[in-house]
Amino acid sequence: MSAARIVAQQILERPNSTLALPTGETPKGMYAFLVRFYQEGLLDFSQVTVFNLDEFLAIPPDHPQGFRAYMQEHLWSKVNLNAENIHIPSSTPEDPWEECSRYEALIEEAGGIDLAVLGIGANGHIAFNEPGTPFESLTHVAVLSPDTRKNEASRFGGIDGTPERAITMGIKTIMRARRILLLASGEEKAEILAKAIFGPVTPEIPASVLQLHPSLTVVVDEGAARRLL
Ligand code: GLP
Repeated sequence: MSAARIVAQQILERPNSTLALPTGETPKGMYAFLVRFYQEGLLDFSQVTVFNLDEFLAIPPDHPQGFRAYMQEHLWSKVNLNAENIHIPSSTPEDPWEECSRYEALIEEAGGIDLAVLGIGANGHIAFNEPGTPFESLTHVAVLSPDTRKNEASRFGGIDGTPERAITMGIKTIMRARRILLLASGEEKAEILAKAIFGPVTPEIPASVLQLHPSLTVVVDEGAARRLL
């Protein structure tokens, strides 16, 4: 509810806001509340522009475990977003690096991101910026770490069927957002969240870069907050 309220506030203050949006288990509740706010007539998405943070490469565009299908299910099909304002990297581009430049340019053309909503991976990744990714990175082709692939494997019927690469907004792309909202839920995120928020700022824990952002809000549940106190 807190996360949805922050996103709603952004849209109410600036109806033509540009948002960067995450996938995963964590933001499902936020999307459910945003849909409810829309259904209750409290929110209008008609002028909002959305960019997904990332998408797997080399899966069919309608793959049920792809982020396009996830967003369709949790947000896009349920609110009044304009189709031309919905952006996600292609999972089947002819030239993946060209797709990255196109995506980065689209974000720039939209005037940059007003609010970037992020989850955090078990290894501290944000979007698919895996440990070691330079802080200067723009949208790029990411090679998924063995840990990340292992975490995704059950959704893809085993490690062999799990994508090896993804297109992701870079750390710099994300850090350019005017405001950032980091979400974390569950005890399994407590350790990495504490490192990201209070530990050294290092590319080994990509989320730690967020300490340098001038407008960061962190929303956590009780489990994820366990190591923050
Ligand atoms: C994926 C996404 C990230 C997300 C992370 C955590 O790797 N690329 O953007 O933050 O998963 O997901 P969950 O919320 O399911 O733990």
